[in-house]
Amino acid sequence: MALVIYLNTERRQWWLEHLQSLLPGIDCRLWENAGDPGEILYAVVWRPPTGGLARFPNLRCIISVGAGIDHVLQDSLRPEHVPVIRTTGSDLTLRMREYVCLHVLRMHRRSMEIEARQQQQLWQPGITPTAAERRIGIMGLGKLGSDAAVSLAALGFSVAGWANSRHRISNVDTYAGVAEKKRFLRATEILVCMLPLTESTRGILNRDLFAQLPAGACIINVARGEHLIENDLTDAIAHGHIDYATLDVFIEEPLPADHPFWHNPRITVTPHIASMIDPESGGKEIARNLQRFINGETISDLTDADRGY
Ligand code: GLV
Repeated sequence: MALVIYLNTERRQWWLEHLQSLLPGIDCRLWENAGDPGEILYAVVWRPPTGGLARFPNLRCIISVGAGIDHVLQDSLRPEHVPVIRTTGSDLTLRMREYVCLHVLRMHRRSMEIEARQQQQLWQPGITPTAAERRIGIMGLGKLGSDAAVSLAALGFSVAGWANSRHRISNVDTYAGVAEKKRFLRATEILVCMLPLTESTRGILNRDLFAQLPAGACIINVARGEHLIENDLTDAIAHGHIDYATLDVFIEEPLPADHPFWHNPRITVTPHIASMIDPESGGKEIARNLQRFINGETISDLTDADRGY
């Protein structure tokens, strides 16, 4: 009974030892030392190479080291019958909450302008509306999205949430499906994308969507770079319809040095750090989910590959 780990990090060896200590009954191996492919029953991965997982004929489950599973599903040769479990955990949710609140508040209080004025030694006071007068729209109401929505509502913002299916969240106005998207967008001044990446959400942050937001709206993308049509954002900013964007995720990561986003004064770039799994607690979460899987118990992080999340 063996488990294989594919992680694109220098801490691979640390992860190996950590998981091995948490799962003493399972032989944990790094990808490059997987040994006999027939012995591998479990795979713990982040962006596995195409066709890599298909090498293991007895694979029983795939664990994504992260909330998203798009990096697993994009492997067209992946064994489709093998269930995929994501990794969330409270630290991932808390970090995401902090990032979303930080950047919503930054936009709400126009901090980027105040910081720019400091460079010019400009003392220019002004009154901003209160949070209650600012309408925030969260797209995607999964674990992370609904937590961010509740947290922003607790700060006093007027919060709406949109998702494919109907959600009920206290103090948050919820909208569902294509039919209610327009109404949701029309009332959103700061839009936060927290959607899973699926065929129906790829490219959702595009020219048409921007046009449905009120003039001067701001965008925060903490989901995936592929949700955004990059040129549409640059155009909408250039035309003044979108005022500001904070982007944590990009189609190409690291963001190439010559990418225009780096120098756009109306875009804040952060290096996919909104929420990362802490290896210590993430490892424990992975071990717990795997143990539940082996025992045939319910796992809330079990995903639906057909749905894409
Ligand atoms: C990070 O992007 C994740 O999916 O957890």
